[in-house]
Amino acid sequence: MKGVILAGGLGTRLQPLTLVTNKHLLPVYDRPMIYYPVTTLLNAGIDDVLVVTGGEHAGDFLKLLKNGKQLGVRHLEYAYQEGNGGIADALKLAEDFADGGRVCVILGDNLIERHIRDAAEAFRKQPSGARLLLKEVPDPQRFGVPRFDGGDIAEIIEKPADPPSRFAVTGIYFFDNDVFEICKSLRPSGRGELEITDVNNHYLRRGDLTWSELDGWWTDAGTFESLHRAAGFVAQGGANHAPGA
Ligand code: DAU
Repeated sequence: MKGVILAGGLGTRLQPLTLVTNKHLLPVYDRPMIYYPVTTLLNAGIDDVLVVTGGEHAGDFLKLLKNGKQLGVRHLEYAYQEGNGGIADALKLAEDFADGGRVCVILGDNLIERHIRDAAEAFRKQPSGARLLLKEVPDPQRFGVPRFDGGDIAEIIEKPADPPSRFAVTGIYFFDNDVFEICKSLRPSGRGELEITDVNNHYLRRGDLTWSELDGWWTDAGTFESLHRAAGFVAQGGANHAPGA
């Protein structure tokens, strides 16, 4: 299985920092943010990686990651997203890279304490579809949130004002190759983006979505509060060991 890190977007919630660099190149404690999703993939045995980025500072990824070898990435590719059309818009750019196969997609601002090996293994055994990782959080209204019916997910709602559960859909997703046709069929949401939540609801409606709970801490780092929290988690130790550690 190949890995895709989505590191586009404008990072407007982190301005003025993101006026002069890409959000995913900002430091989280002692390393650039992008190192953490790279490590998450490597720790799951995924070393064939595409980084999708965009904006004015895209060239800086090359300076930092080079060909990926020094981080342990066997094969590293880059793709450039024009504009900030959303997570599912960025994912479309991975179609050729995926080459008909399955992908583990991780948002470039998502950090985890442990690893996703068990989830990757479970997905490898899954005949088709998608697999999500959920995490209980204090502020679910900031995320995609599942509504449960019994033990099953009935629906996922993006940034609900009145969250139907305490769980966030984390930015780590496993998809079969149908994901690219699904992305192409989407219409922009109210915020003008192609939403990954619409992709997940598509798999849900066709009865092909599985999930598990993520062990250890998880955080995004796309706001000042979450960026600060992420740095604190890493500083306290226990972050999945980033390259160069
Ligand atoms: O972190 C998990 C959450 O990420 C999920 O629970 C939500 O369902 C999902 O929509 C997303 O929510 P955010 O509002 O936090 O997404 P954000 O716009 O911050 O984008 C997250 C990452 O996705 C960003 O670090 C880079 C990538 N991205 C985003 C956009 C909008 C792109 O590569 N291109 C884009 O156009």
